[in-house]
Amino acid sequence: EKDGYDWFMRKEIFEQPRAVADALLGRHTASGQLQLDEVRLSDQELRDIDKIIIVGCGTAAYAALVAKYAIEHWCRIPCEVELSHEFRYRDPILTRNTLVVAMSQSGETADTLMALRHARTQGSKVLAICNTNGSTIPRESDAVIYTHAGPEIGVASTKGFLTQLVACYLLGLYLAQVRGTKFGDEITSVVHEIAAMPAHLERVLAGADDIYALARDFVDARTVLFLGRHAGYPVALEGALKLKELAYLHAEGFAAGELKHGPIALIEEGLPVFCVVPPRGRDQLHDKMVSAIQEIRARGAHTIVLAEEDDDEVAPYADRLIRLPKVPTLLQPVVATVPLQLFACELATLLGHDVDQPRNLAKSVTVE
Ligand code: BG6
Repeated sequence: EKDGYDWFMRKEIFEQPRAVADALLGRHTASGQLQLDEVRLSDQELRDIDKIIIVGCGTAAYAALVAKYAIEHWCRIPCEVELSHEFRYRDPILTRNTLVVAMSQSGETADTLMALRHARTQGSKVLAICNTNGSTIPRESDAVIYTHAGPEIGVASTKGFLTQLVACYLLGLYLAQVRGTKFGDEITSVVHEIAAMPAHLERVLAGADDIYALARDFVDARTVLFLGRHAGYPVALEGALKLKELAYLHAEGFAAGELKHGPIALIEEGLPVFCVVPPRGRDQLHDKMVSAIQEIRARGAHTIVLAEEDDDEVAPYADRLIRLPKVPTLLQPVVATVPLQLFACELATLLGHDVDQPRNLAKSVTVE
């Protein structure tokens, strides 16, 4: 049951520290070595992979985008992301050395099932990342990584998404371990960062009241934009999707670098724009994002900035600041998505919508 929460979705948002811990449980040794016995592909088969294509729909496709960034960086294997329903109709190039990853919380999404069937007819190996034991997609796959989020009742995915991210990180690190593209201690250090996520998430959730206040302030918004770059780009897409699904609000996510190529024309006085700021690092990602925020603020946008807690450089350009725990860039989606889930859940509640059963949507779409 809902354990005192008004919605299953809100309950599931607050279950995320536990869900993320469960997704990691038993999958690494104390020293950070990955153990993914359930990936029933031999080390040789894993070494032979020369391309990965991840297929999924909706939220699952956004988790796939994060996976692409992580897997290419850690494993140096070309990795594509494709919406399941576009995949087989464009005659994709598949060989026996292509690994197709079918990403599906429910394991029953027909579009994704058809994509994996097509991949198998071409001789490719299919690995499912799935939350539902014994569902059709893992049953028809060569291997499966279960996400262990527990049952997700709310139609809009929350803990399903965060645990998909963890499963993707585990897959990427496991491939890096088997293929030797990362040193053991580098893998260990990322595993330890993932192990710290539940505690980080508790802190993000402790700030829920501030996010609810934000939702009250923007209850009359007609459009909300989301900007991110690198691993923050899928977060922007997910933030916008949640608002569409739950609040029936026009919302769009953009890669921040794309702004000047078009979307900046949309910026007008008072427009709420969520900006997911990458951690400060060696590259220029952070500074480029800060410049983008300056640009839109100069044009009157109301900037709602999600940034590392001690990021003083961006603070002057934030009309509202949401502080995120310090984590590596590739892992930031785990913590950055949660305030956006809370915002959408609260805004939809204030608008009087049924958060668990949004109009026109189904939890799993079993028709193509
Ligand atoms: C949609 C759901 O129709 O299916 C989304 O409403 C979900 O929330 C998408 O992200 C994909 O579902 P699944 O189960 O394949 O991950």
